Amino acid sequence: MSVRRIFVIAVIGLIGVYADDVKDANKTIAKNPEWKETGICRKCVCKDEKIDCFDQSISKFFTKQEWTDVSEFKPKTIDLSENSFTNVTAIAQLPVQVLNLSRCSIEFIENASFKELQSMSVLDLSHNKLTSAKLSPHAFEGRYSPEEYEPLASMRKLSLAYNDLHSLNQDLFEHLPELTELDLSGNPLTTIDHVTVIAISSLPMLKVLRMRSCQLPDIPDKFLHTPRYLERLDLSDNKLTSVPVELEETKNLLYLNLNQNPIIELDVNNEDRPGFPRLRKLQELHMCNMPQLKRIGAGALAGLESVERLHMSYNPKLSFIDPKALARADDIGETYDWPLVKELYLQSNNLSEIDRRLLSRWDFLQKVDVSYNPYLCDCTTQWMVDMLVPIVERKTPNSTENMACQEPVEMRGYTMKHLHDIHRTMRCVDKYGHRPERDGAILLGTLIGVLLAVPIVFGLMMMWRHGYFAFCGLRGPVDVSRAFYKRAPADDNYI
Ligand SMILES: *[C@@H]1O[C@H](CO)[C@@H](O)[C@H](O)[C@H]1NC(C)=O
Ligand SMILES: *[C@@H]1O[C@H](CO)[C@@H](O)[C@H](O)[C@H]1NC(C)=O
Ligand SMILES: *[C@@H]1O[C@H](CO)[C@@H](O)[C@H](O)[C@H]1NC(C)=O
Ligand SMILES: *[C@@H]1O[C@H](CO)[C@@H](O)[C@H](O)[C@H]1NC(C)=O
Ligand SMILES: *[C@@H]1O[C@H](CO)[C@@H](O)[C@H](O)[C@H]1NC(C)=O
Ligand SMILES: *[C@@H]1O[C@H](CO)[C@@H](O)[C@H](O)[C@H]1NC(C)=O
Repeated sequence: MSVRRIFVIAVIGLIGVYADDVKDANKTIAKNPEWKETGICRKCVCKDEKIDCFDQSISKFFTKQEWTDVSEFKPKTIDLSENSFTNVTAIAQLPVQVLNLSRCSIEFIENASFKELQSMSVLDLSHNKLTSAKLSPHAFEGRYSPEEYEPLASMRKLSLAYNDLHSLNQDLFEHLPELTELDLSGNPLTTIDHVTVIAISSLPMLKVLRMRSCQLPDIPDKFLHTPRYLERLDLSDNKLTSVPVELEETKNLLYLNLNQNPIIELDVNNEDRPGFPRLRKLQELHMCNMPQLKRIGAGALAGLESVERLHMSYNPKLSFIDPKALARADDIGETYDWPLVKELYLQSNNLSEIDRRLLSRWDFLQKVDVSYNPYLCDCTTQWMVDMLVPIVERKTPNSTENMACQEPVEMRGYTMKHLHDIHRTMRCVDKYGHRPERDGAILLGTLIGVLLAVPIVFGLMMMWRHGYFAFCGLRGPVDVSRAFYKRAPADDNYI
């Protein structure tokens, strides 16, 4: 028995050793395929279909031969970001889908560098040193195609953000006919000139356009006319002083970001500072961190029929939002329609109240934050204490802690949550802006004063009549009546 057992164990052991050998053999084969020995995979990490060269101090772009050597690895992603080469040259045929050339000091891209990357859909060229003069449309040249002009047919997303582009060559995107996403943020465009308009107009499939921090004072006519499928537009941190009228062209816009623009006011009756045009599909609007914004007039947001997420926070001067800001008169002008807002953010503005008429259905809100405003706590905001506090409490717990009263002075520091909990009924401020809470005290004081004054004055009068103050030169009416009313002695007893 025991001998057989030992034998069995020995056999199992041998098999085990053999298996390990085979695995090891496989490992060595896997470890040293040809591409592992080449330049690129020695400098970078080649693993899981990705060539990762992030921050490897590469100062010269790889040659076409070096790229050819890794073709067997079949990379889908190449990350060359955070290196220091200045020129991009032609890459060999690879099944790459994502090419990241961000943060590399790139100044120049050779003609047709990406021609052989027929699967590339994402190209990140952000944070480089590309200039209008040096960035040529030929950089994006693809292979010959009978239908299109040497297209990079798979390209969908291109980022040119944070380069030094003042203007775009009007043909810049001629080889990128299917582009859906373009990021131009952080380029000193200053104004969108005629050729830039033409360049953007050559992108009929564009869905996402980012132009944050481009120093734009306005959006020219026809700029958004061609990209008729545009869904997301970021114009934040520019120099827009009014809501661009040109937005009217974006019939399919879902998302709009106007944060950090010096817009002062939205007023449908003011041509220079109009409200929004009709953006029938817009779902999400951002108007935050606007240092100048003071006022949003009646109907200024009425064009946003479908808006669901409204972000209007951190506008330190925003003191007035008209109760009808979102209300849209119906076709026959008899009633109003409101969008069904699901998320409302109005925190850290200068609002003294949230008007109940701003939304038609407060119960539709899924998220709401109206904290850090200098609220006036009187009868006009009673509804906030009674109705809005419980809604906010349900959707955004704890944010009611920061819905506090600023005025009147007597109410300062109270939170609306507290007033809700104690079922506080607040007084009305009169039309002269007098403070009811203080008025109460003044009224009581006056009343007490009057009540005390009557007997005192009466007493003094009686004493005076009876000549008690004669010693200080005040002669009582007793003498006077003697002089003037001699024949009316009964007067003395008129009481
Ligand atoms: C060795 O590699 C081959 C091919 O890659 C594979 O089919 C085989 O299962 C591997 N053997 C072991 C023991 O891992
Ligand atoms: C980059 O390309 C430009 C234009 O072809 C050329 O003048 C320059 O010498 C190149 N720089 C390097 C480092 O290869
Ligand atoms: C490219 O790399 C940068 C920095 O490493 C990163 O921030 C960026 O998200 C990457 N871009 C893409 C498209 O993955
Ligand atoms: C790029 O291609 C264009 C058009 O084919 C040509 O005029 C230009 O000289 C080329 N530039 C370089 C640097 O080869
Ligand atoms: C906030 O509003 C009050 C009056 O509603 C006004 O006196 C004050 O100047 C405003 N603050 C700012 C920063 O605009
Ligand atoms: C709200 O505040 C309480 C006590 O300060 C804390 O325990 C709780 O986690 C907070 N809830 C949320 C959602 O932040």
